[in-house]
Amino acid sequence: MKTEVIAIIGAGKGGTAILETLLKMPSVVTKHVCDVNPSAPGIVLARKHGIQCHTKMTAICQDKEIDLIFEVTGRKEVFAQVLAQKQEHTRVICSEDARIIFHLLDLQQEVSDRLEDDNIMLEQRVLERTQEQEKANLDLEQKIIEYEKLNEKLQQINNEKTKYLMHATHQLKAPFAAIQSYTDLILEGYAGEIPKTTRAIVEKINKRCILLSDSIKDMLELANLKSLVKENIQMSVCPIDSIVSSVVKHLGTLAVAREIKISVPETFNDVSVKCNRNQILILLSNLLENAIYYSPNGSMISIAVKAVPPERVNISVTDHGIGIDEKHLHRIFEEYFRSNKAVAVNERGTGLGLAIAMEIAGIHGTTIKVESTLGKGSVFSFQLKTAQKNKTA
Ligand SMILES: Nc1ncnc2c1ncn2[C@@H]1O[C@H](COP(=O)(O)OP(=O)(O)OP(=O)(O)O)[C@@H](O)[C@H]1O
Ligand SMILES: [Mg+2]
Repeated sequence: MKTEVIAIIGAGKGGTAILETLLKMPSVVTKHVCDVNPSAPGIVLARKHGIQCHTKMTAICQDKEIDLIFEVTGRKEVFAQVLAQKQEHTRVICSEDARIIFHLLDLQQEVSDRLEDDNIMLEQRVLERTQEQEKANLDLEQKIIEYEKLNEKLQQINNEKTKYLMHATHQLKAPFAAIQSYTDLILEGYAGEIPKTTRAIVEKINKRCILLSDSIKDMLELANLKSLVKENIQMSVCPIDSIVSSVVKHLGTLAVAREIKISVPETFNDVSVKCNRNQILILLSNLLENAIYYSPNGSMISIAVKAVPPERVNISVTDHGIGIDEKHLHRIFEEYFRSNKAVAVNERGTGLGLAIAMEIAGIHGTTIKVESTLGKGSVFSFQLKTAQKNKTA
């Protein structure tokens, strides 16, 4: 872009405003400023910027370098004189034309003042918002710390509760075992002959003792599982067939007594799983025990093992028993929940079996799924990670 060389004649208010604007423009050089008054504001400003200053306009009109002259004296005779004396190529803007420029300059000033004000306001607002945000962040951090502390405390209380429950139930175990063995002695005749009615009462005491011992065993089991530290649980590689056959063998007599048949898969294709063997035995036993208890005599239960590629195996227990009401499905894993139908079929239950099973599933990073139709039967299933045999995790 060509540099425009400019001169200003008249250094009053108008000339000064034009000079101020020209000084900000990169492609413009203001070479001369002229005014009859040597201390006019435009002359003072021009001197500061090293611009040639004059009281007469002869030098300006004779300068061949000048492209444009601003004649802003407001005097017609001066304008006529400039027109007469200027170089041929030099253009001239008179006071009349310059008025439009002054107007535009005023507008520009107004707009830039307004922009500056808005900018200041905006900065102020951003500052206020940032401060508000910082305060909110601090409050939030404080709240998080408080909640973490509270959570820690709650966990501590919970651990204490579990410990207390374990101690209390453990203390109950021995006296109940003693009562049971005394009633066994009486029933077996070691305390001599007893009348029929007394025998009936002692038999009831004996039955209740067995029930309570079962409950205590389950409560201890659950409390124990809840207090386990996941990282400390020993996982090993176990062949799935040995787990299934062990559980079936353990509950076989219960099923035989009810003429219930348990079908197991013929082949396990050498599948091994990564688990804590004892815990998975308890989990599967609880599922199979429920299937037996809540099935009619002479019915069929099947255990299925299916690979779920790439590295999981699905183990399911299907029965054709009493089934579960849809409205109870979400409650069956709760501690102590038992449906009325279940109580009617099996009075010897604590309602802890599935809670224990779910706790074990959680420890193994899995869950237990259930599908059931009231009066038709249920399918309980869970998945485990497969593993290569003979490798301890
Ligand atoms: N296979 C099943 N068929 C029908 N209902 C079932 C079955 N398995 C569980 N349920 C329902 O879920 C409830 C909870 O089962 P869970 O095993 O926790 O307790 P329980 O069998 O009643 O007692 P226990 O703690 O002695 O096992 C049962 O009372 C029963 O209502
Ligand atoms: Mg049960």
